[in-house]
Amino acid sequence: MSQKKLFHDPVLSQEVLSELVSAETRTIFDGTLGLGGHAELILNNFPNIALYIATDLDSQHLEFAKKRLQKFKNKTRFFRGNFSNLVSILAENKPEHPLVILLDLGLCSNQVDDAEKGFAFSVDGPLKMSFAGNNGAEKLINSASAHELSKILKEYGEEPLAVKIANQIVKSRCAPQGGGEISPIKTTQELREIVEKSVHPQNRKKTLVRVFQAIRIAVNDELNVLKKTIDDAFGIMQNGDRLGIIAYHSLEDRIVKNKFKQASQPKTAETEFSLHDIVEDAHFRLLTKKPIKPSAEEISRNPRSRSATLRIIEKIK
Ligand SMILES: C[S@@+](CC[C@H](N)C(=O)[O-])C[C@H]1O[C@@H](n2cnc3c(N)ncnc32)[C@H](O)[C@@H]1O
Repeated sequence: MSQKKLFHDPVLSQEVLSELVSAETRTIFDGTLGLGGHAELILNNFPNIALYIATDLDSQHLEFAKKRLQKFKNKTRFFRGNFSNLVSILAENKPEHPLVILLDLGLCSNQVDDAEKGFAFSVDGPLKMSFAGNNGAEKLINSASAHELSKILKEYGEEPLAVKIANQIVKSRCAPQGGGEISPIKTTQELREIVEKSVHPQNRKKTLVRVFQAIRIAVNDELNVLKKTIDDAFGIMQNGDRLGIIAYHSLEDRIVKNKFKQASQPKTAETEFSLHDIVEDAHFRLLTKKPIKPSAEEISRNPRSRSATLRIIEKIK
């Protein structure tokens, strides 16, 4: 695909520039480089940044962003891989501090629109849904039991018809009674039709959104990766380092909110005199008492930003 064809409007970009990065920042770890939208803005606005380390699982994105950021080649380092590798990547690249870690979770617009990436129910494509580009969703949909599928739909999609849809998926991929070929489900449209059979026409779109989201989260193990990465980041952050996360749905935002809240509260213990004696001060300060949301102007310019939530935490001791 040509350099010109890919597009993604970086979300909450002004807020990332004003609240997350500062004139003191020396290194950025951008775990979700995407098309390099945030990266370009940050590097243009903060010439003092000495090192910009970036990861993405999507090799097409990395190639695109590398070209886009060509003029910063002396300070950029790119890695194809999961941002959950941040500890080893940072250990090898010796960042200067303060360090800013940015995670802009989820998908780029072009990943949704590109049928070949197999994420969307609105276009027909191979059943992939993997950031790394493999056929993870096809494997999952054709091998998981009805029980496993309904658990995924319930936990990751909060789907009320999880059991019914899971049974319908299993029924569809099995040989018809009386023989015939087993027919694996291979495309996004086949999955769409199966889901549509299980729901009232009025609820189709919302159900499809929930089902496709749930399968994508399972294929990429998104919530566990997020939990591990936050814990690992807390473990290596030094005084003045910041972690900023943009989440796009309540399941991931809940994880960020709870982990940030816990880390920014002092440890207390029950003593003889009080139930809440502080035994250890907090090592982090929450910079976003209220989460940062896109402005009405941003939402009207880029409707896909509407569910975004940015939370930022800073290491203080
Ligand atoms: C919302 S886009 C980022 C857009 C980027 N901030 C920009 O301005 O262009 C999310 C990106 O993160 C990548 N991604 C998602 N999960 C990942 C993970 N666990 N490790 C590495 N990259 C991941 C996706 O492939 C996608 O390119």
